[in-house]
Amino acid sequence: GEISNRDRKDKVAQQVSHFVKNGDVIGIGSGSTSFLALEKIAKRVAEERLEILAVPTSKEAEMNCSYYGLTTTSLLNHQPDWGFDGADEVDREGRLIKGRGGALFAEKLVMASAAKTYILVDDSKHVAKLGEKFAIPLEVDPRAVHLVETTLQKFDCDHVQMRMAKAKDGPVLTEAGNVLMDVRFAHIPDTLEKELSAIPGVIETGLFIGYSVEILTV
Ligand code: A5P
Repeated sequence: GEISNRDRKDKVAQQVSHFVKNGDVIGIGSGSTSFLALEKIAKRVAEERLEILAVPTSKEAEMNCSYYGLTTTSLLNHQPDWGFDGADEVDREGRLIKGRGGALFAEKLVMASAAKTYILVDDSKHVAKLGEKFAIPLEVDPRAVHLVETTLQKFDCDHVQMRMAKAKDGPVLTEAGNVLMDVRFAHIPDTLEKELSAIPGVIETGLFIGYSVEILTV
């Protein structure tokens, strides 16, 4: 019969758990697929008495690591051997849009520090054209919101929107106390990530292009 989305997420999570070796320092992604992977990795670690260190990409991931009894460390102390994370969109060249969870800054720091990152995605994340469904999230210092907005007028973007919270009034604030501006582009050239990062006040972008990633999908 039909294989459900949850089953697909479980399968990629299972797949990545097989890559764990004793002594590994592993970057731990955020989001529901990464959570499933963490669960399966923790099971192996407990059953086989492996010693690994986890580098979480968010408070959410850090809490999940501690829930499952995995020892966490930070980029200050360790460089990840490899990592895993989810994504919101993946195109055929492996270019990613991330940041629906708002943890894009730490996710990019951990990805850029790791020799390799497995991207765990189900079918629904694959797109023919990057930006087809999702806007590119920018993490922006609140003082720079107007500056970023005016600077973006010189870019070929369709729509800019500050991400608002659903469970409370006001904007979504990131772990660093910044806001998120979701910017829609009809066309995303490879150079866009660096161009957006160059705007003063933009802390990080949710475009991930040219990192050492391997897409795992079922
Ligand atoms: C976090 O900022 C995002 O980049 C996540 O990796 C993304 O939202 C994937 O989450 P799911 O695995 O829940 O789809």
